[in-house]
Amino acid sequence: MPFDITNKVALISGAASGICLTIAKELLRNGLRGVTIADINKELGEKALQEIKNEFGSNKAIFVLTDVTSMKSFEEAFQKTVNTFKNLDILVNGAGILNESIWQQEIAINVNGTVHGILLALENYILKHKTDSEGVIVNISSIAGVASFPAFPIYSGTKFAILGMTKAFGDEAHYKRTKIRVMAICPGPTDTPLLREISGRNLGEPYEKLLQELLSGIHGQKPESVAKGLVQIVRHASSGGAWCVEDDKEPYEFLWPERENFAPK
Ligand SMILES: NC(=O)c1ccc[n+]([C@@H]2O[C@H](COP(=O)([O-])OP(=O)(O)OC[C@H]3O[C@@H](n4cnc5c(N)ncnc54)[C@H](O)[C@@H]3O)[C@@H](O)[C@H]2O)c1
Repeated sequence: MPFDITNKVALISGAASGICLTIAKELLRNGLRGVTIADINKELGEKALQEIKNEFGSNKAIFVLTDVTSMKSFEEAFQKTVNTFKNLDILVNGAGILNESIWQQEIAINVNGTVHGILLALENYILKHKTDSEGVIVNISSIAGVASFPAFPIYSGTKFAILGMTKAFGDEAHYKRTKIRVMAICPGPTDTPLLREISGRNLGEPYEKLLQELLSGIHGQKPESVAKGLVQIVRHASSGGAWCVEDDKEPYEFLWPERENFAPK
């Protein structure tokens, strides 16, 4: 049976902008009862909330000013979600930056932020407050989390980390106990502020050169394509899986190589 999004509640970090705002709207189009926009950008968060109110009515969303690098701040978003909507069924761990010039902060947001979200959802808020028998966590990794992107190695590393955590937290051993599926989505280049403002956010001239070469060969897909892919993953994907969405096409599963195939016989 596919997971039924109708009447469920979601918390989405990074949903003031770009891919995650589009995900919030797509989940609402698919019958979501309520959504929390958890984001550090107050101005964009309030604008996003207004957009959702205009399209879906006034009781469907709340904005909670959140810094995902702080477990305490992130937890407030979870608490306000269950206080407002009574339940929590879906977490999308989407807050992220690409900026190697502040790589400590990049790691803190992309990696620690994702860990905070997983722990809060898996061991507490979705575990205790899901509407039905099953909950869902989707972590936003990237194509840079499944392939080498030498223009931004640290960002790439954060996205590989997200994939590793997804596989381990999504293992059957945890699913049996929690009934929460944990998946990753790996978008290709997508037309958002992150991609539009990418130039200069790297480790210096050699990296900028590699970036410019990369940018000359790509175009940003629509955030809507990622959001539609995410809805399919929420409904159907097995726990521990990672799904790529590139070039506005359907999601395809990233298959992990089996270590045993490489080990000497
Ligand atoms: N755009 C792409 O090409 C692309 C491709 C693959 C993966 N991604 C990933 O998708 C996710 C969304 O990115 P986007 O492209 O929509 O970018 P975006 O810049 O439009 O959105 C990112 C959001 O995260 C928020 N954020 C940043 N730091 C935060 C913090 N400490 N706490 C809470 N919120 C914070 C920002 O305020 C912003 O609203 C990111 O994880 C990104 O790495 C993007």
